[in-house]
Amino acid sequence: GSDQPDRLRLAVQKKGRLADDTFDLLKKCGLTMSQSKNRLYARVEQLPIDILLVRDDDIPALVAGGASDLGIVGGNVFEEERAAGRLGDNVPMVVPLGFSKCRLCIALPKETIYSAPKDMAGMRIATSYPALTEAWLNENGVEGARTVVMNGAHEIAPRLGVADAVCDIVSTGGTLDANGLAVAETIYRSEALFIGGPLDGRKAEIAEALRLRIEGVQRSAD
Ligand code: PRP
Ligand code: MG
Ligand code: ZN
Repeated sequence: GSDQPDRLRLAVQKKGRLADDTFDLLKKCGLTMSQSKNRLYARVEQLPIDILLVRDDDIPALVAGGASDLGIVGGNVFEEERAAGRLGDNVPMVVPLGFSKCRLCIALPKETIYSAPKDMAGMRIATSYPALTEAWLNENGVEGARTVVMNGAHEIAPRLGVADAVCDIVSTGGTLDANGLAVAETIYRSEALFIGGPLDGRKAEIAEALRLRIEGVQRSAD
């Protein structure tokens, strides 16, 4: 656990689409924060919570390792970290939040003829999600396919000749379309997750106060 027993740590994405949705949720929860100068953490004014502003990919391990008590992270990132074995035995509890919905899809150049997973045999697939992609390839008996890890701009990989397909997040589909790609398979449906715990003592009380505010926001949105 963290060293300050009276303040709860909540890890959130520093910048990006998930961050926009997360800050929107916290605002609707009636929470405002004072940002520190270096902007890597912020103090919530209404509850004893410190917000850690980090890369989304780091959130599952920070929570699993106890550096942060709670986190808000995309299911895509959480499941990749889990599938890659980076959470060890300390897999935190998960509550789906219903926002930041997107799909993790394998996409192929529009001209590629595709009817079933076996058509991906031998393909190189550019992705930031090698564990989830490889699990899907194995479950579907795709032979000889392999992943090529890229950290972003995956959709350019087929044009560059470094991959035959991509496995990436699809939200509007605009990026795929603009790069001459089309969805072949949806391998995971993602949304934001509230992760962490079980906690005890004072931290459990603070986490419960936060959870109740989130629940209130979700109820009023229904
Ligand atoms: C995300 C995602 C896709 C794109 C999908 O990329 O990885 O590339 O958005 O959105 P769309 O379906 O609405 O077009 P991001 O902007 O985070 O860039 P990156 O993948 O290069 O990090
Ligand atoms: Mg990221
Ligand atoms: Zn991408």
